[in-house]
Amino acid sequence: MEIKFCSEINGSNLILVMSKKVLSPELMRLDVEGKLAKIVEMQPFEGKFGEVLHIPGCGKYDNVWLIGANETKSYVKLGALITRVLMGRKLDACIWIEDANKQVVQDVLSGMMLRDYVFDAYKKVADKQRFLIENLCVANDVGISDDEVASLKFEADTVKFARDVVNKAPCCIYPETLANHYYNMLSPLGVKVQILKGEQIKDMGLLCAVGKASCNEPYVVVMEWNGGEGQPVALVGKGVTYDSGGLSLKSPNNMEKMKSDMSGSAVVAAVIANAAKNKYAKNVVGIVGLVENMVSGNSYKPDDVVISRAGKSIEINNTDAEGRLVLADILDYVQEKYSPFAIVDLATLTGSIIVALGHVYAGLFSNNDALASALMKHGQKTNEPLWRLPLHSAFIEAMNSPIADMKNCASGSIGAGSSTAAAFLQAFIKQGTQWAHLDIAGVSFLDYEDFASTQGATGFGIRLLNDWLKNY
Ligand code: BES
Ligand code: MN
Ligand code: ZN
Repeated sequence: MEIKFCSEINGSNLILVMSKKVLSPELMRLDVEGKLAKIVEMQPFEGKFGEVLHIPGCGKYDNVWLIGANETKSYVKLGALITRVLMGRKLDACIWIEDANKQVVQDVLSGMMLRDYVFDAYKKVADKQRFLIENLCVANDVGISDDEVASLKFEADTVKFARDVVNKAPCCIYPETLANHYYNMLSPLGVKVQILKGEQIKDMGLLCAVGKASCNEPYVVVMEWNGGEGQPVALVGKGVTYDSGGLSLKSPNNMEKMKSDMSGSAVVAAVIANAAKNKYAKNVVGIVGLVENMVSGNSYKPDDVVISRAGKSIEINNTDAEGRLVLADILDYVQEKYSPFAIVDLATLTGSIIVALGHVYAGLFSNNDALASALMKHGQKTNEPLWRLPLHSAFIEAMNSPIADMKNCASGSIGAGSSTAAAFLQAFIKQGTQWAHLDIAGVSFLDYEDFASTQGATGFGIRLLNDWLKNY
């Protein structure tokens, strides 16, 4: 989709976003024969958010779509709705948004681009439901530059990159291939990418234990965007390319879709790409632990005790609580090597977060109120909302082991599965480091399509973190 700005509403296909049943003066001027006014008067269109009225052959126009926008909570969603409505058509269109400002237009454009996604890599006959607006003319003069449009388009492309690697089958995406995808995407942008494996990561006892049963060896990818001075922000991603549960094997129902257990890593790679593309004048380091949690004669076992990179001994009591093990070692690595002033990790960490927050909010855990509220604010703004949940000493105590420094899974009736997982991670955060953990298990992958998103991987977190990084 090529996006241009035009000084007035023109062309033969119009998308008019309006909040009431009444035509505004701009539209009255277009509607010389009064045809549009008459139709709007007759039809049940009130301008409420989500309402769509399609008028084919309206006067000199081939198509007019009226899109309701009253009480719009997210213009990104509104943009996505427009794409959903127009999907499968091949046309040039002109869009005009009543009472728009710069942010509104940017959000609508983002939404339109984000919803323009179909994953059909494995279909013999490519999906016909493609959005085919070739040229979009925006008739709102709100001062958006070509560079800003390019940056929005790049962001949408990185979201689609992340969705693609998550949606791909785990026979194609395993630690080595995923590391290569990240390398190939990031290095042309000037990001320094290190791919670590084997000897280089042998001190990461927990991460290696998780990966032990797989014939695909673990990888760690470190991505540096060095655009400024001083201590970096670190972004840390869980990259379990398949989570069978290991010997604590998942049931068939729970195992399905566990190809998406590397979503956090894809978000990290995408955010680093945006930092580089937009040349943020700050330092950002991304690190992802890529492993496959499988079953074999060489599996790590419940009852094993494993020494973490940080030196703590961990009693394994559930091999399906593997994400926290992977994260613990890379959190330790990134703190030792880069001394970040703040860390945000993203992980599809617990099923419990879905019980608490469904597929709407990601869970947020943080040791720093300012960081937590900043992330929540940007989540609100980008329509990737976060809900803060507690850290508490009781949750750390629940991880005490009778035989080792900690165990990896709280047992008994303590409950709060997402908080105990977060508490485990917190034990690997050094004093004085701001840290936030986003549990994205409920929001990274959707079984259903709704008007704002396609079925499958979402890329949740990318736009939120881009917005946060740009503004902190
Ligand atoms: N990858 C899963 C969490 C998950 C569940 C992600 C559903 C996406 C959708 C994680 O590794 C896991 O298995 N967590 C366990 C933890 C438990 C053993 C303490 C869970 O949530 O059941
Ligand atoms: Mn698991
Ligand atoms: Zn997992």
